[in-house]
Amino acid sequence: MQYALTINGKSHTVDVDEDTPLLWVLRDTVNLKGTKFGCGAGLCGACTVHLDGAPTRACQTAISDVGKASITTIEGVGETPVGARLQKAWLDVDVVQCGYCQAGQIMSAAALLAQNKSPSDSDIDAAMDGNICRCATYSRIRQAIKQAAG
Ligand code: FES
Repeated sequence: MQYALTINGKSHTVDVDEDTPLLWVLRDTVNLKGTKFGCGAGLCGACTVHLDGAPTRACQTAISDVGKASITTIEGVGETPVGARLQKAWLDVDVVQCGYCQAGQIMSAAALLAQNKSPSDSDIDAAMDGNICRCATYSRIRQAIKQAAG
């Protein structure tokens, strides 16, 4: 089945089964490898992308459910002011340890700051609750979000 997608502002037509998870369309069909597979069960947040700005687990989203939503991935989020500030803050704070979960972390943080320009600690904890980091970089993630929020 063919699907017309808008990913990071560009049009793509893909031909995949309707139940194919968006994660695999992004990684294997469109060759955007920044979005990661962690648990495949909606539990870890490594696969987080935006659909019309809303943080979404790509592993749990069938391609047939994307509809006309605009998809943003870690490869495109830096084109937005919030995404650019977050990526700079991530580097300034030196957040990353192994790095595997960090694309998903930044996507969740970008969705938060797009809605809430100066989140409290509890706002940050609530928004980031579904993004697991096995290196436990949580305190640096919070610091970077605060820096990006300005
Ligand atoms: Fe999608 Fe873990 S890979 S939530």
